[in-house]
Amino acid sequence: MERLDKFLCDSGAGTRSQVKAILKAGRVTVDGAAEKDGSRKIDPQTQIVTLDGEALGGKRRLVVMLNKPAGFVTATEDARQRTVMELLPKEWVHLDLKPVGRLDKDTEGLLLFTNDGDLLHRLISPKQEVPKVYYARHEGQAGDADVAAFAKGLTLRDGTVCRPAMLEPLGPGESLITVCEGKYHQVRRMMASRDMTVTYLERRQEGPLSLGDLPRGQARELKLEEILTLEGK
Ligand code: URA
Repeated sequence: MERLDKFLCDSGAGTRSQVKAILKAGRVTVDGAAEKDGSRKIDPQTQIVTLDGEALGGKRRLVVMLNKPAGFVTATEDARQRTVMELLPKEWVHLDLKPVGRLDKDTEGLLLFTNDGDLLHRLISPKQEVPKVYYARHEGQAGDADVAAFAKGLTLRDGTVCRPAMLEPLGPGESLITVCEGKYHQVRRMMASRDMTVTYLERRQEGPLSLGDLPRGQARELKLEEILTLEGK
């Protein structure tokens, strides 16, 4: 059993204050009878709730893009450190969003979240090979031998073998790196294996999605067309 107002929020009917107004306006029914009391307990498994005559099916699917700032760990909770969840708007808190993969605490840029378990698993599956583009500032200068080593598939200092990746030197100490897998500290370790210590890292693209003009620290919901391109549809 759960409160009707919480069920309405979780179903995407609106924010808490919008849901209050929706209830007051008599737009909601429970099992066919108008209901204005948001504190009423309902059982979403057995009872039918409608808004403007349309049945609500519980939690709506949500896919969100965050432009992550440095200083936040990618985790749903952490006893000591600030997490990326703190950067999401409060009205999404009840929607069970989970980060898709992870960015290191000091990495900035594009981080996706979803409450769709199937989509989450497809996106982080090693079989999926979603290309991710990173901008790095680093010590040293990337040259032709580094580009060739990335293209062939690097072996990291601990012996881990990486899939072929793309290194594009942009100028002294600046490169773009495209990888299709997500090993722990992957880009930093790939660059270190070529003696280039990364001093700044930002993810700019994931599959068909890029940050665009989303300001650092802000999140936005993906449009349906964007979700479909992400799913390869
Ligand atoms: N590679 C890294 O080293 N760090 C990240 O956060 C992402 C990719």
